[in-house]
Amino acid sequence: MMTNLPTLTPITSLWMHQLMGDKSILNALVHKYGSPVNIHHTDSMEENYNSYYNVFAELELKHKIFFARKANKTKVVTQKAYALGMGIDTASLQEYTQCLDMGIPASALIVTAAVKNRRLVEKAVHHGSLLILDNKDECELVQAVAQEQHKKAIVGFRISGFFLNEKRLYSRFGFDLLAITEFITANLIESDNYKLLEYHGLHFHLNGYSIEERKFALTQCLAFAQLLSKKGLRTDFIDIGGGILMNYLKNKAEWDHFNLQLRKAIGEKTTEITFENQGLGLEVVNGVLQGELKTYPFWSPVTKGNFVRKILSHQTHTGETLGDISKKLGIEIRIEPGRSLLDQVGLTIAKVAFRKLDSRDNWLVGLEMNMTQLLSGSADFLVDPVVLYQEQDFEGEPVAVFFTGAYCLERDIILKRKIALPKLPKIGDLVIFINTAGYMMHFFESSAHLFPLATNLVWNRTVENGKIDLAHFQNDENL
Ligand SMILES: Cc1ncc(COP(=O)(O)O)c(C=O)c1O
Repeated sequence: MMTNLPTLTPITSLWMHQLMGDKSILNALVHKYGSPVNIHHTDSMEENYNSYYNVFAELELKHKIFFARKANKTKVVTQKAYALGMGIDTASLQEYTQCLDMGIPASALIVTAAVKNRRLVEKAVHHGSLLILDNKDECELVQAVAQEQHKKAIVGFRISGFFLNEKRLYSRFGFDLLAITEFITANLIESDNYKLLEYHGLHFHLNGYSIEERKFALTQCLAFAQLLSKKGLRTDFIDIGGGILMNYLKNKAEWDHFNLQLRKAIGEKTTEITFENQGLGLEVVNGVLQGELKTYPFWSPVTKGNFVRKILSHQTHTGETLGDISKKLGIEIRIEPGRSLLDQVGLTIAKVAFRKLDSRDNWLVGLEMNMTQLLSGSADFLVDPVVLYQEQDFEGEPVAVFFTGAYCLERDIILKRKIALPKLPKIGDLVIFINTAGYMMHFFESSAHLFPLATNLVWNRTVENGKIDLAHFQNDENL
């Protein structure tokens, strides 16, 4: 029955193994802080940052790296990103204000918020942070606020609608590439309409993870910057946003096997491998398998710095690379990684509350957590958890389980995938979700039923004399 259940083994770090090897500390953490509890270990951020930095250094490109802090709510990751030399990309008044309160200078902050309320604009203009503008109404608001404050506002324009061969890339964000020339010409060059907006650069952030699309978008931004330059408006930077891939999984063969088995299961050629045989984006219509996997590409061959290198070393028809052109024009390239900067930074630990067989003979293992505590835009988190049995040597058979959550929703299934385990967990055993700091632990976390939000702990100490000290775990709230 379990032979077709694929495994998806996560990439792990030494600190994770050290922690997972100390059951008494894990039990003490869950006892003290409740279940689930999130652990952050920020050392890996340096390696992630260096992966980007080294590519810019190798290409000798003027650059700036901003951490998209929407990927994780803790203060510690933002502080660490700033300490590494990064700027911070903020997406709300609260994110922006908290950065200032932590002592990060306004010059290191940018505001890309999808909706910028007046208080956010007032604060950013007052402190002199760059605002990335999305539409005409926002321009009017920023101009009005700047007028009130007798100051200039530093701005860039977000652009979308890039051409990709015959198609255009739709986005609800930003100015349409076809309309922006006329808009900037009319309002910033040929009139004083926005005389308090001090233009510095262009910005895009594309949905999805395509290197190809980013090459096209950057090419078109560089061309647009040259056009503006001819009209007397200099572009200092082009910000190519986030969406830079990271890899969660050890093994491509496992990923390929999972993809094959899912297709077979959806096509009813094997038993189900997901809850209610959910297709995660795939479906069978009139006997034909359609759609595509709507999950993050958890296995990826080209990640982080290599992903950026592929974009910047793309050769245009002149034989120059996009990096060369940026350098020639004196344009700084900016990126805003969120998820990929947090690779290997987080674990989420949850406690088993109950086990039961449902009416379809599936084992359901209820966890003291809910689906929003492991949720991103991905249709599932396709990474195997680690189960820590309190008692190692009890009798038990291999078993397949679904992990279920505490919300009163049929769909509160923590992982859609059926997970093969050596034995059925017991009440009080721990389930550890690996590499959850980027979006998974925070992005959609909610408090329905008045459940408290999970505690976020920081553990940056190494193991001393083989021991981990409970006192070394700091609550991020108290930082
Ligand atoms: C404007 C902007 N920049 C950067 C990011 C970060 O993207 P990622 O976490 O995929 O790197 C996002 C994510 O939604 C975004 O909207």
